[in-house]
Amino acid sequence: VIAAAGSGERLGAGGPKAFVELAGRPLLGWSVAAAAEAASTEALVVAAPDGFEEAAEAAIAAAAPDLAAQVVPGGASRAESVRLATAVVGTDLVLIHDAARPLAPASLFDAIVGRLEREPAAAVIAAAPIRDTGKRAADGAARVEETLVREHLWAAQTPQGFRVGALRAAQAAAEQAGELAGATDEARLIEGAGGEVLLEEAPAYNVKVTTAEDLVVAEALLAVRGRV
Ligand code: C5P
Repeated sequence: VIAAAGSGERLGAGGPKAFVELAGRPLLGWSVAAAAEAASTEALVVAAPDGFEEAAEAAIAAAAPDLAAQVVPGGASRAESVRLATAVVGTDLVLIHDAARPLAPASLFDAIVGRLEREPAAAVIAAAPIRDTGKRAADGAARVEETLVREHLWAAQTPQGFRVGALRAAQAAAEQAGELAGATDEARLIEGAGGEVLLEEAPAYNVKVTTAEDLVVAEALLAVRGRV
């Protein structure tokens, strides 16, 4: 599942982020190509922004012409978009990936599926050890309350892999509790339901494009990927 239904307001490109060009291809095209290159990918479901269903189909056709793919309308929040897309998935395992992470390598998709096949956990997620020292500040105040032990901190990324039954149950429970819209990743929902989430160490270059500056960084990383 690729979540591509965001508005991209923080990027300031005047349109949805997934369709902003990076090195001659929309962001969505990079994620689709990586998913298609992964040996474990059987089919693709893309959550698209309202009015961009055809653009999503075109991006998929250009990047992965031979992959079975479906485009579904996205929701009001990222978690809702993912829930709507997960509803039509026909496999036992599902990987959730943000279109905003165009640098995720195909090997990462396969590594996560491999772990899910070998280990009984409900979820395996891409994550990178945090390199900076973490500081927790009070709400709205730029004043340190606590230093977090870096050795214990990981930055969660996507793709995140799940047993589809466990993910759907966790999504339904969060929705009933009114907590779905606020969930910034799916692993959080599994944690909330008491399920086990494992970390798969991912390259730090698997960055998320949020601002215009990130787009410049992503383009530079793309140029050196495979060499660093
Ligand atoms: O906004 P943010 O960077 O957290 O978005 C992460 C991913 O979620 C993006 O790829 C975006 O397209 C997607 N998204 C979505 N539906 C929404 C909001 C965001 O699919 N309603």
